[in-house]
Amino acid sequence: MAVYQVITTPDQVLRAKAKTVNKINDGVFRVLDNMKDTLYAENGVGLAAPQIGISKRLVVIDTGDNYLELINPEIIEAHGEQVASEGCLSIPGIVGLVKRAERVVVKSLNRQGEEQILEGSGLLARALQHEIDHLDGILFTDKAIETRHEPI
Ligand code: CO
Repeated sequence: MAVYQVITTPDQVLRAKAKTVNKINDGVFRVLDNMKDTLYAENGVGLAAPQIGISKRLVVIDTGDNYLELINPEIIEAHGEQVASEGCLSIPGIVGLVKRAERVVVKSLNRQGEEQILEGSGLLARALQHEIDHLDGILFTDKAIETRHEPI
């Protein structure tokens, strides 16, 4: 078990476009394992690899229902609209209202390199969009309608 230090703004790795994972090997498994440990240690809903300083297209999510791992995730469908409050482990002490799609369909790979299609609405859709944004160097504060400080 290893918990990474979560990188906070401003740091260039959070603004870089993360690289596609071409080979799913032990190195990738180790990063995913440690991202999972970090997610739970930080009580997060989601974590993207750039947040722990690794510019690769890897995401872990747990909205409370079940744990998801996504390699090279891509939104292939987006429907509807929701506005809700959001925060980010990389931007401590800030929350903001963000408009996002209400439901998304996401294509990614699992650890076996097989394609998996995930569909999420509400909080899961929000987490998927937030984390996939991280892979393109986009932070929720870029999209927030308004932000405010919240005690950590
Ligand atoms: Co975030």
